[in-house]
Amino acid sequence: MSEWTTVQMPDLTGKTVIVTGANSGLGFEATEAFAASGAEVVMACRSRDRGESAAEEIRSEQPAADLSVSKLDLADLEDVAAFAERFRESHDDLHVLCNNAGVMAIPRSETADGFETQFGVNHLGHFALTGHLLSVLRDTDGESRVITQSSGLHERGEMDFSDLQGEDDYDEWGAYAQSKLANLLFAFELDRRLDAAGIDSVTSVGCHPGYAATNLQYRGPEESGSRLRLLAMKVANAVFAQDAADGALPMLYAATAPEISGGEYIGPSGFMNMRGPPAEDTPSRRSRDPERAARLWEVSEELTGVSYDLPEATVASEE
Ligand SMILES: NC(=O)c1ccc[n+]([C@@H]2O[C@H](COP(=O)([O-])OP(=O)(O)OC[C@H]3O[C@@H](n4cnc5c(N)ncnc54)[C@H](OP(=O)(O)O)[C@@H]3O)[C@@H](O)[C@H]2O)c1
Repeated sequence: MSEWTTVQMPDLTGKTVIVTGANSGLGFEATEAFAASGAEVVMACRSRDRGESAAEEIRSEQPAADLSVSKLDLADLEDVAAFAERFRESHDDLHVLCNNAGVMAIPRSETADGFETQFGVNHLGHFALTGHLLSVLRDTDGESRVITQSSGLHERGEMDFSDLQGEDDYDEWGAYAQSKLANLLFAFELDRRLDAAGIDSVTSVGCHPGYAATNLQYRGPEESGSRLRLLAMKVANAVFAQDAADGALPMLYAATAPEISGGEYIGPSGFMNMRGPPAEDTPSRRSRDPERAARLWEVSEELTGVSYDLPEATVASEE
């Protein structure tokens, strides 16, 4: 089979897509590609101004692009609920939800609700968002997919349920890896629960971009004031990373290719799964553990106050 590129994306006219973190990096590239295929894209952005500038940039190339910007701060559960309410009031259908926004290896800080920011933004914010939008996904005419952006670094993650928020012991990279493992545990558990509920029209898929040069690598060094780490990141991005457009391909493939099934994990298939065309990848054993996933689900419902109307899937752990 030939390598998958955006040329193979189906016509998405009449489809509605939400991309979180649509103003930058992978989210921006994905938004451009979804729009070019005819989809209506709701750009869910932390800053309305940055979102509008990104939308303008896309419109300068694609004047007919169907884009709207809606404010979404994943570090504030009230804002997440307000975003979802606006969406539900204005739309009957949601064909693709891309849980993409994220932060990486930043000094410890807390969200508006008191969660450690990487866990709060990368996982809990998206958990709450998806829960608020589940009714639209279920009622959508046709098929819907939830795509959750993880990272190859999820393999180094462990869920420290005794200190999920890194209050006793915080490590910037450890907290990132944990949040990215949480992304995959969520993606796979959501798929199992949809199956258990007999909801065939909605599927959940995990993906990762390999290594792509974006703003992601700069926020940590900038927040910690480390000029040396910033320089190292800039050099590494220039030498090793693929560009953001290639990094967006696994998410686009997961979101649109007809051969994708729920519960898959998509990533680049080239050198060390860091670059190259998208294909099915193998996630860590830990990310497939249903017991860990069920525990995280329960904790996430408690912390966010968002309950899913889905039965727990009964799958035995292999660990
Ligand atoms: N690039 C890579 O090599 C790589 C590798 C593995 C995984 N990933 C994953 O890919 C995803 C996208 O990252 P990227 O590389 O495209 O980085 P990026 O260029 O920094 O984009 C991240 C996006 O997330 C948004 N965001 C951050 N905090 C947010 C919040 N509180 N609420 C809503 N949006 C927020 C950012 O908004 P602002 O612009 O306003 O900050 C930005 O739009 C992340 O989940 C990341 O973990 C990337």
